[in-house]
This record gives sequence, C-alpha cells and structure tokens, in this order.
Amino acid sequence: MEILRIPKIMQETSKRHIQKGKTIGFVPTMGALHNGHLSLFKRAREENDIVVASIFVNPTQFGPNEDFDKYPRDIEGDIEKLRTINVDIVFLPETKAMYPDNFLTFLYVEKLSEKLCGAFRPGHFKGVATVVNKLINIIKPHKIYFGQKDYQQCLIIRKMIEDLNIDTEMIICPTIREKDGLAMSSRNAYLKEKERVASALIYKTLVAVSDLIKSNKHPLPKIKEQMLNMLKEEPLFSEIQYASIYDTETLEELTELKKNNLVAIAVKIGDARLIDNIIIEIN
Ligand code: PAF
Repeated sequence: MEILRIPKIMQETSKRHIQKGKTIGFVPTMGALHNGHLSLFKRAREENDIVVASIFVNPTQFGPNEDFDKYPRDIEGDIEKLRTINVDIVFLPETKAMYPDNFLTFLYVEKLSEKLCGAFRPGHFKGVATVVNKLINIIKPHKIYFGQKDYQQCLIIRKMIEDLNIDTEMIICPTIREKDGLAMSSRNAYLKEKERVASALIYKTLVAVSDLIKSNKHPLPKIKEQMLNMLKEEPLFSEIQYASIYDTETLEELTELKKNNLVAIAVKIGDARLIDNIIIEIN
C-alpha cells in the first residue's frame, strides 16, 4: 500500500494508472475508520482496479466552536485497517498542502447547503464541497463512494458533480449500524456509556416513524408530532436540532407524503451531535 502526502504526486500517480487503462475508486474520509467506512472500501474494491483512500480532517468544514481539535484521529490504526482490506493508495495530505496561505477559492452549492445540518453548521457544506472537489481533481476517480448516513452531504456532492460536469460517478452506500441500530460514526467515540445507550433511540424513532408512515393510518402532522415526542422522552438529548420528514431531492419539510420520503434526525447528546436518516418509499 502506497502512502502519498503531496497532492501533485498523488495527481501524477492517478494519471499514470489512468493512462494504463486502470479504473480508480475513491473513498474520502476524515479517518477514525469504522465498519461504515470499511463497507465503502469493500464496495470500491469490488468495482475498481485501484482503490484510493484519503484521510484528511478538513478544517474548512468545522465552525469556530466545533470539534476540529478533538475530532478522533488514529492514523496508525487507520493505516493498519486499510492495509488489511487491500486499499492500494492512502492520500494523507498536510493541511498546508491542501490550503496554502494564499488559498482563496471556495465552492458553495446553494439552497441544499442551507437546510437541515446547514442551518446549524453555517459554512459546513461549503467546506465539504470545496475539499471534495479538490480531492476529485487530485485523485481523478472513476467512482467516488459515500455513506447514506450523511444524506445531505450526498445530495450536495451529487449536485456539485452534476452542475460542474465533474467526470466521476457517485455511489451512495447503505448506512452501517451497531447491533442496537445506532448509525456508525467516528463521533460515537465521544459518547459516555449512558449516552451511548440513549443514542439507540434515534434509530428506534426512525423505525417507529417508518411503521407509522407505512400503516397509512395517520396524518403527516400527527406522525411528526409523535416523532418529536419520542425523542423528547430522552433527557440526555440536550437539543433536538431537527426531526421531521423531508423531500428527498430538495430537503424541504413535507406537508404531505410523497413516493419517497426522507425521515431525518439531528440531536445533541453530551459532547456529540448525532445525525441519522432513512428513506421510506410508499405506493
Ligand atoms: O464525510 C466525511 O467524512 C467528510 O465530510 C468528507 C466527505 C471526507 C469531506 O471532508
């Protein structure tokens, strides 16, 4: 497994593989790899000749009072995991290599970036779109892999790829969950024991809402109310940032159900901010 740190060298390496007719699958990460990430690498391994991982805790997607400094970092452990699953190249750039002092260019996907998480994390998706665009320009992947847990991020990147005619195919993979349903996330490491137990309520709520929708017996406002009431029962949730049902394309909150419905939640618990979602298809 090659470890490359310099963007130009990564770019030249990708070019060489492409010239030889190889396909490149790319999984961008911020490290602290868990089984959710590993499922993306597994899929990339199945579908491409060369698999590239990036590990870069991207400072531009963190707000001034967010967890950039304490975001979990485990480079040694990550490299070991990537070796075992046969990743070919790890791109591990320094912050200064990605954002030199004279860096001036940012990318912003309008509207989609302002909703849901965007309303609570101003500037977050600008940082995400910018870094993913840079990574795509450096790595030149034929396919790029993301997890559905970050549904809004997926939608924003998909729009950026479409709007800017970026020559890559985006693959969205299912959320990987712990036994009790909690979506895997590097930030779960922040949870203390009681918080970890309480966090299972997020997925439980998503499943309960899914059942209510599918039963076709309840008006949407009632379902939304029940959703909030379920979450409010957990005193360890210090803030319910959003919990509702949204349009899967525009992220507008729905006033009536559609064929596809995004049920999404963001809560704060202890030092963590947790998000999760499911998509419910109805006839
Ligand atoms: O989902 C993440 O881990 C990050 O937002 C990403 C896509 C690696 C960009 O920094």
